[in-house]
Amino acid sequence: MADCKLVVLISGTGSNLQAIIDAVASGQIPATIAAVISNREQAGGLQRASKAGIPAVVVDHTKYDSRDSFDAALMQAIDQYAPDLVILAGFMRILSEAFVAHYNQRIVNIHPSLLPDLKGLHTHQRALDAGYHKHGASVHFVNNELDSGAVVLQAEVDILPGDDADILAARVLEQEHIIYPLVVQWFAEQRLSCDNDRVVFDGTALESPLLWKNQSLEYAN
Ligand code: GRF
Repeated sequence: MADCKLVVLISGTGSNLQAIIDAVASGQIPATIAAVISNREQAGGLQRASKAGIPAVVVDHTKYDSRDSFDAALMQAIDQYAPDLVILAGFMRILSEAFVAHYNQRIVNIHPSLLPDLKGLHTHQRALDAGYHKHGASVHFVNNELDSGAVVLQAEVDILPGDDADILAARVLEQEHIIYPLVVQWFAEQRLSCDNDRVVFDGTALESPLLWKNQSLEYAN
């Protein structure tokens, strides 16, 4: 995509944002990060953006009296940069239908579980409590249902004896920092799109998510 433009939305630390910044800087992702927008002024990721010379914008949700008015302000902030793709990277707000429709099939998110399992919060503790042996992360397109859009790519990690939620989260994050830039790269290269809630990759509608395993890509199709 000639001059593919990205806007990244964050609420916190921004380690996934950093992985994407680094992948753009190294040339892996042929795109520009036009802006990073946070709903929290204290989000650490804003400094990562500034350090990389990327506009860092705050749209503070506490200053709006409804989800719709916040989302309208957020859309306005995003649209100034006319992005091709909106990237949610630890953005802790539920988005309205109007927002999702506005960026029709051009929003992606990363979620720390092997979706459709463990939607929602506290996924690492829930995986441990359930006695799972495998856990992981998923990159998906965003639709109107929380953590339910079409999954592009997943990475699995083993759950090991002695793991607690923090240890497991760190192991999952390592994989997140690989798979999220990869998906953004494919989008920027125009190898990836979402059509009617189906992932289209290299011209083929995927029957199931791609899997990142042992440092390479597996196709289940
Ligand atoms: C990650 O675990 C991601 O999967 C989830 O929020 C966390 C964000 O971490 N959506 P960071 O801010 O990118 O470090």
